Amino acid sequence: MSCLALSPHVESPRLRLRGVRPGDLPRLAELANDYDVVKMTGSMPYPYTAADAEAFYEKACAGDPADHATFVLEHEDAPIGVLSFTPGPFARTEIGYWLGRPFWGRGLATEAVRAALGWARGDWRKKLVLACHYADNPASGQVLIKSGFLYTGDVEPKVSKARGEAAPVRWMVWLA
Ligand SMILES: CC(C)(COP(=O)(O)OP(=O)(O)OC[C@H]1O[C@@H](n2cnc3c(N)ncnc32)[C@H](O)[C@@H]1OP(=O)(O)O)[C@@H](O)C(=O)NCCC(=O)NCCS
Repeated sequence: MSCLALSPHVESPRLRLRGVRPGDLPRLAELANDYDVVKMTGSMPYPYTAADAEAFYEKACAGDPADHATFVLEHEDAPIGVLSFTPGPFARTEIGYWLGRPFWGRGLATEAVRAALGWARGDWRKKLVLACHYADNPASGQVLIKSGFLYTGDVEPKVSKARGEAAPVRWMVWLA
């Protein structure tokens, strides 16, 4: 049973974006238990345990579908990462995502973000999406630029649970 029953599957050439299922959690926990993955996110701890994956699932299922959507990124019938939309600053939608390290460098994050934005614009009727990336994460900046985001010029500190401290993030915006 997926907890994103209201969201359709979104298909791209190499990916399926779908609701999270309990059966995804062991593999997601394995992929997320990597400091180089979680240090680029605000909310993921390190080490990342099975209990953290359970907590992620509960949170994903509890979100109001008006302003939350959490997708597992499935590639060749297996989960490889997560993409989510959550309420961000100014009551705007914010996108976040991560992929397991074996899947980096193949254009998959860009493909996922573009597909998710297509869904957000078409089915979800969102007009504006915010994103931020740590300043020491240029790869994510590239993903966002290739997906149509622009830098707002705002840079501010943001806590990273895995780092145990704040680091500067660069804010970006996408208009439908
Ligand atoms: C960031 C992340 C999502 C990128 O995933 P990916 O599938 O490798 O991304 P893509 O292949 O679609 O695109 C990466 C782009 O960054 C570029 N890039 C990679 N390392 C780079 C670096 N050090 N400096 C500048 N650009 C870099 C790549 O060349 C590519 O751009 P190109 O296609 O124009 O050549 C992935 O590394 C990840 O999950 N990291 C950990 C979690 C994270 O950072 N999440 C995002 C939080 S904002």
